[in-house]
Amino acid sequence: MSILFESMKIGGLRLRNRFVRSATYDGCADKAGHVTEKQIRLFEELARGGVGLIVSGIASVHASGRISAFQNIVSDDSAIPGLKKLVDAANSHGAGIAMQLFHGGRESSVYQKHKKSEAISPSVIANDPYCDLEHRAMTEDEIFEVIQAFGDAAVRARAAGFDAVQVHGAHAYLPSQFLSPFTNQRTDAWGGSPEKRLRFLHEIYKDIRKKVGDDYPVMIKIGVADGFAGGLEFSEGKAAAVRCAEWGFDAIEISQGLRGKRYSQTEFRTKIKGPDQEGYFRSWCREIKEAVKVPVMMVGGLRRIEMMEEVIRNRDADYISLCRPLIREPDIISRWEKGQGAYPTCVSCNLCFEALLKGKPLNCVHQLSVNKKKDAQPENCP
Ligand SMILES: Cc1cc2nc3c(=O)[nH]c(=O)nc-3n(C[C@H](O)[C@H](O)[C@H](O)COP(=O)(O)O)c2cc1C
Repeated sequence: MSILFESMKIGGLRLRNRFVRSATYDGCADKAGHVTEKQIRLFEELARGGVGLIVSGIASVHASGRISAFQNIVSDDSAIPGLKKLVDAANSHGAGIAMQLFHGGRESSVYQKHKKSEAISPSVIANDPYCDLEHRAMTEDEIFEVIQAFGDAAVRARAAGFDAVQVHGAHAYLPSQFLSPFTNQRTDAWGGSPEKRLRFLHEIYKDIRKKVGDDYPVMIKIGVADGFAGGLEFSEGKAAAVRCAEWGFDAIEISQGLRGKRYSQTEFRTKIKGPDQEGYFRSWCREIKEAVKVPVMMVGGLRRIEMMEEVIRNRDADYISLCRPLIREPDIISRWEKGQGAYPTCVSCNLCFEALLKGKPLNCVHQLSVNKKKDAQPENCP
């Protein structure tokens, strides 16, 4: 049996293999932010497809952090009955399920404006070339309110039956905005030094842990370097990931921090044409894995099953986390388990993401036929 299909544990949570469906926003919640039938079917399909752990898409912990009308919320108890059905869909087909706890910070600006509210962030940066969204700096009371919202959301996730939670501490969103010296220019207790910029995440961890107890798996997806010069550098991001492990996060998924302007400066890189482009966060994972005792999840352009096995054997990571290939082929893991080692037909074009931005539900919108291209290499990547 391939090492990829070994059963593994995160804290006390037993998983059937090392495959994780990396958090994927699906744009399929109803307008109240509640679970829909479409989401239940999506999660059922993924679980049937053999993945060990499904991480939900971004679930908003506080009204100020909501980024879309089609996003799930976990900011009040009204979401719990629907969330229970999502848990059922995953667990009844053998997959674990974690909820990704999210606050969009300044990236929530368009939705907040639509709701006649203001987006919030650690600081407002003058002439920011990466973000022209309207927002204002958070007060200290607001910072504590959002921290507590993460803890309360974790309690709701547990009440709904989720096996774990994952704090979204990556990409363009609020915890990354606190971590980055580019977006956090505060001079109070929340900014001004690496330790102070990390405090927001630390307080979130402590609040969640206090509320869910020691036996519940609490994970983080952490952005360990920004996609442009002048932001968070890997040396500091790595130190932050190590601290997260020391505090008690049960698993760490390694990703990118703030995004630059091009896809090559983001967590979802395009033009993955061969081994040189695959597993593009591998060196970060390797360095962090060497420095921590908790499981590390590698995400980002993992496509070739041989490389995934090598990643695990080499101890560069403990889990293989996939997003785009599972949008197109949710059953690919069970096919791999049966020895059908096909290369994913996903060409990492990001048209799925661009459609989501236009309010369409999650789908692979690339025109190729899956059947015709089952064993194809992605040389036609746009
Ligand atoms: C359509 C789409 C939606 C995504 N939604 C989320 C999300 O909700 N939370 C998150 O942390 N990352 C999200 N991501 C990033 C993925 O989880 C992953 O980190 C990235 O796509 C790289 O992995 P891949 O090469 O396997 O796709 C999304 C990516 C795509 C393409």
